[in-house]
Amino acid sequence: MSADSLPREMLITADFSELRRSVAAARHAGQIIGCVPTMGALHAGHISLMQQAHAECDFVIATLFVNPTQFGPQEDLQKYPRPFEADCDKCRVAGVDLLFHPSVESIYPPGYSTFVEVEGLTTKWEGAVRPTHFRGVTTVVAKLLNLTQPDKAYFGQKDFQQQAIIRRMCRDLDMPTEIVTCPTVRDPDGLALSSRNAYLNVTERASGLSLYRALCLARDKVRTGEKDLAAIRLAMRAEMEQTPGVAVDYATIADPDSLVELNEPQPRMVALVAARVGPTRLIDNRLIP
Ligand code: PAJ
Repeated sequence: MSADSLPREMLITADFSELRRSVAAARHAGQIIGCVPTMGALHAGHISLMQQAHAECDFVIATLFVNPTQFGPQEDLQKYPRPFEADCDKCRVAGVDLLFHPSVESIYPPGYSTFVEVEGLTTKWEGAVRPTHFRGVTTVVAKLLNLTQPDKAYFGQKDFQQQAIIRRMCRDLDMPTEIVTCPTVRDPDGLALSSRNAYLNVTERASGLSLYRALCLARDKVRTGEKDLAAIRLAMRAEMEQTPGVAVDYATIADPDSLVELNEPQPRMVALVAARVGPTRLIDNRLIP
């Protein structure tokens, strides 16, 4: 039996002092510390982040916190899935050394009044539809990085705008953590894994595949020499809109760093889509070429 297949010891704590002591001990031992922030309801996408962290770091911290400040008033904070025991098991198998699951009261105690806000990048695309979302994300991620002090923190390409904003925050605030973006994990038919896919019934799931089709279409058109990005955007939107039950929020091709919509092709581009499928909102993206 290799060392990696032995059952692992994983510390599970909600306690800030215990977390800080463990981080200090790992640091003292010269270990490279990796952190994977999550909201739980873990699937193979989250697990791939933990596995990459395990491969690249000596001490892996996963955080599990359903962050209320990133949910809008009409969003699914209350019904967000919270399968805690199953999540613990998945973290253990993925090679996590410490699972930090703070309470809402400890992250946002009475009188809490400090927020981290990245300007510009946060007002377009997801930010236009969810105006307070990224302020909540950057605030909690800044807090989690302060608490865990990792050398590297792992985020999914699935939430493309989120990782771009977190990179910008770390750069602008001179935070020493390296941000690592990991590839999107998909079901075999192309649907990007998401905790919110659990809300989809069979028909809605089939409709949700139109997002992936729109992204493939964009990539194929660029590959075969189409230079008219406005025409490609229209084709992406049409691909989704002709699917029953899909209401498009946006379908665009943008610069991967600034997220500004492009009119001329350039070497690095990202296609971004978002749509409501029934009551569930789905997002996806693909780098081009
Ligand atoms: P959550 O939605 O739980 O996602 C945690 C991490 O998993 C994010 O970095 C997300 O991009 C990544 N992820 C989700 N689906 C993925 C997939 N199919 N393939 C690869 N990675 C995937 O994103 C959040 O939580 C929160 O906003 C958080 C950063 C934890 C702050 O609260």
